[in-house]
Amino acid sequence: MTRRNNMIIYKTDAEVAMMKEAALLVSKTLTQVATELKPGMNTLQIDELCSTFIKDHKAVSSFLNYRGYPFTICASVNDVVVHGFPDKTPLKDGDIVSIDMGVILNGWHGDHAYTFIIGEAAPQAIQLVKITKESLYKGIEKAIINNRIGDIAYAIQEHTEIKNGYGVVRELVGHGLGRSLHEDPQMPNYGKRGSGPKLKENLVLAIEPMINLGTKDVYTEDDGWTVRTRDGKVSVHFEHDVCVKRNQALILSDYSIIEAAEKANANLNTSYIL
Ligand code: MF3
Ligand code: CO
Repeated sequence: MTRRNNMIIYKTDAEVAMMKEAALLVSKTLTQVATELKPGMNTLQIDELCSTFIKDHKAVSSFLNYRGYPFTICASVNDVVVHGFPDKTPLKDGDIVSIDMGVILNGWHGDHAYTFIIGEAAPQAIQLVKITKESLYKGIEKAIINNRIGDIAYAIQEHTEIKNGYGVVRELVGHGLGRSLHEDPQMPNYGKRGSGPKLKENLVLAIEPMINLGTKDVYTEDDGWTVRTRDGKVSVHFEHDVCVKRNQALILSDYSIIEAAEKANANLNTSYIL
C-alpha cells in the first residue's frame, strides 16, 4: 500500500495512556500463552485461549476480519515469518513460535508479538531469537525526537543483517498505531540512517523486526496470508508498541510479565534470556 508521510497522527498524553492499556492487555494475553504453552498443544487452542481472554477484558480483536483475516492471533511456526493461521498441528520440541495479537480497547489498538521456543531447539534458532529481540531494543533506543524512521530501521538492520548475517524481510514493515491498526508512517526494519520522516513526540509506532536465519526472501501461500521463508529456514518476529519521547522512548507493551511466565514454564526454552 502506498502511504504519504503527511498523514502521521500524534497522540495526546491521555491518548497514549489509553494506548498503553490496550498494549498491556496484549502483553497480559501473551503472558497467559507463556504459561500454557507446551508440546502437544496446537495453535488453534492458543487462538481460543486468547480470544476468550480478550473478551473477558472487554476488548475485541484487531485482527479478526481485518481485510478478511479469519483468526484472533497470527501463529507463525518455524519457517512461517508472519500471518500464520492457527491450526491443529501439535507443537513439538524445538518449534519456534511467534504469537502476534492485536486488540481494540476503548477505541485504541494494541498490537504486539513475542516468539517462544518450545523445549530443546537448535542453537542457531535460539541465537536468532536472541538477536532479533535485541535488535528490537536497538531500534527502540533510536525512537526519540529529532531522529528519523531510518535511524530506527538502520539500528535493526545493523544488528541482524550487517553484524549477524541474517535476512531482513523487505516485503513487510512495522507501522504507526492508534485508532487504526495501521497508520503512517511505515516502519521498515532496514534503511539508511537520517532518512525518512522525522520523529516527533507522541508518535506511536509498532516496531516489528521479522528476521530470517537464511535468505531474506519470502513468499505468500495460496491462502493469501501465510508468509514463509523461500529457503524453508526459521524466521523470528518480535513486536513492541512504542511511543516517541524526548530522551527515551516509552514502551507501551511489556515483555517482563511474559518473560516471567516463560521462565516459570519448564516446557519453554529461556536459556537466551539474561
Ligand atoms: N502485526 C501484524 C501487522 O501489523 C499483524 C497483522 S495481522 C492481520 O501487520 F490479520 F491483522 F492482518
Ligand atoms: Co503490527
